[in-house]
Amino acid sequence: MSARPRSPWSERSSASHATRAGRNGGENALPVRTHEEKYAELARKRALSEAPAGHEAIEKQHARGKRTARERIASLVDDGSFTELDRFVVHRTNAFGLDEKEFLGDGVITGRATIDGRQVFLFSQDFTVLGGSLGEAFAEKICKVMDLAVRTGSPMIGINDSGGARIQEGVVSLGGYAEIFWRNVQASGVIPQLSLIAGPCAGGAVYSPAITDFILMTEQISQMFITGPEIIKTVTGEDVSFEELGGAMTHASKSGVAHVVAADEDDLVAQTKALFSYVPQNNLEDAPRFACDDDPQREIPELDDLVPDSPNKPYDMHAVIEGVLDFGDFFEIQPHYAQNIIVGFGRVNGRSVGVVANQPNVLAGVLDIKSSIKAARFVRFCDAFNIPLVTFVDVPGFLPGTEQEYGGIILHGAKLLYAYAEATVPKITVITRKAYGGAYDVMASKHIRADVNVAWPTAEIAVMGAEGAVKVINRREINAARDKDAKMKELIDEYTERFANPYIAAQYGYVDDVIEAHRTRAVIANALDMLENKRVERPKRKHGNIPL
Ligand code: HXC
Repeated sequence: MSARPRSPWSERSSASHATRAGRNGGENALPVRTHEEKYAELARKRALSEAPAGHEAIEKQHARGKRTARERIASLVDDGSFTELDRFVVHRTNAFGLDEKEFLGDGVITGRATIDGRQVFLFSQDFTVLGGSLGEAFAEKICKVMDLAVRTGSPMIGINDSGGARIQEGVVSLGGYAEIFWRNVQASGVIPQLSLIAGPCAGGAVYSPAITDFILMTEQISQMFITGPEIIKTVTGEDVSFEELGGAMTHASKSGVAHVVAADEDDLVAQTKALFSYVPQNNLEDAPRFACDDDPQREIPELDDLVPDSPNKPYDMHAVIEGVLDFGDFFEIQPHYAQNIIVGFGRVNGRSVGVVANQPNVLAGVLDIKSSIKAARFVRFCDAFNIPLVTFVDVPGFLPGTEQEYGGIILHGAKLLYAYAEATVPKITVITRKAYGGAYDVMASKHIRADVNVAWPTAEIAVMGAEGAVKVINRREINAARDKDAKMKELIDEYTERFANPYIAAQYGYVDDVIEAHRTRAVIANALDMLENKRVERPKRKHGNIPL
């Protein structure tokens, strides 16, 4: 921090100026400074901008268990690749004593760098300067890099660590936030936007991350909330800690706001880089393709007996996903939230794919409000950024109950249906077991324009499960029977034999083939080759009206 100069001329009236003026021949001579002095001034200002609030403030940040804004950028980007912008920007506020303080950079580091050789734009909020609070100049710096990111088709990464709107700057800081929000929306679906939360993120400040594609939080040091514990206590009487209210695990498991949880700052960097590797630079490019020495035709024998004989026995769909993907590497998104559906990224033959899969291990893989929203958002991201979708289906239907109906499952389930139907990226669907009712239609069925649909021999594709079905269509027959249980079993066996298999759907061409489970990776890899140049023309419109 330094005393804020009253005007640009105030430095010139210093003693050194007087000396120089004298040396250069008299009272009226213009001040002349040597190159050395000018370069020294630049070096001094540069050094000041490295620690604008002083070294004590940096120590305080470290004592909080947090890295500084600069350290965070340095740990994330390729060595020596960061080009900083606007390091000399300062605030323009005179209120509340701020005229006495000046912080070079105004509390946010912005610029361009590369990660694994790919260009990105970044901002990193500096909590050591006025708590990383956002004022007019701070916001302008962020807007500048966001504009550059869009103009150059480069991903945008924001590192958030801030007390929110800079109180001293009042409405101007609210305006600054709104300028950022507006840019987040314009950039949505054009460039990938990642939000790293590495400290507090309070009030309306949370809405910029919320509009971005992925939110990554770090345990113990990051919190997001609209109103803090004190206000909550006043308004509702609830006692809640910062961590409980808006910590990483809260948002990862309860609210679904966070997509990725990192254990610490090193892990945050590692996870950000991993996620980044699956996404393209922008909506006009494909994600980077990696050389792959995992044979795309590799068989996966263990999948042949994965699905239990009993339709009510669960199994872990992760085994299918990891079996199919290159080297078994799966980057799961929201692994702690709505675990009855699994979403995430992986690669098949070096190509990035988005995986969506029902999880029979949790709630029998049923679709409910949370899982529908989780998957719909993921499908839309993949579609916006040219990432093919691979869907694994084992779904007994939508979750029944008043809680779901009153909560609007009709609307939320329709989100997933809408997202899949509007997606034009290659869509490949594998039905491993159940595909019942409306959920069959929703889970990337042929009818909503999946490109390649296959089923395992264990698949059951029908309007509903055998037991439910015979109770509806054979009720009178069962009631009239002397041994109701025996009759029921007979009818269930008959229904299962006739309908609970993949062959009726295959007869209609609703599935293109019935495949041995061990061939799944090869079938997907071949389908991705086939669909590489897929093109879909859509009628011109402003935008659709997804049931929000
Ligand atoms: C100005 C702020 C500030 C803010 C913190 N500081 N928040 N200065 N405006 N919003 C300053 C503090 O005065 C302090 O300065 C320094 O930053 C560090 O703050 P501490 O409180 O000492 O740190 P800590 O104990 O870690 O607490 C961090 C915090 C707390 C939880 C973020 O500072 C806090 O609750 N701040 C206010 C949060 C808030 O209500 N923001 C407004 C939200 S409304 P010194 O000089 O003492 O070191 C909002 C609207 C946006 O953001 C709307 C957009 C549409």
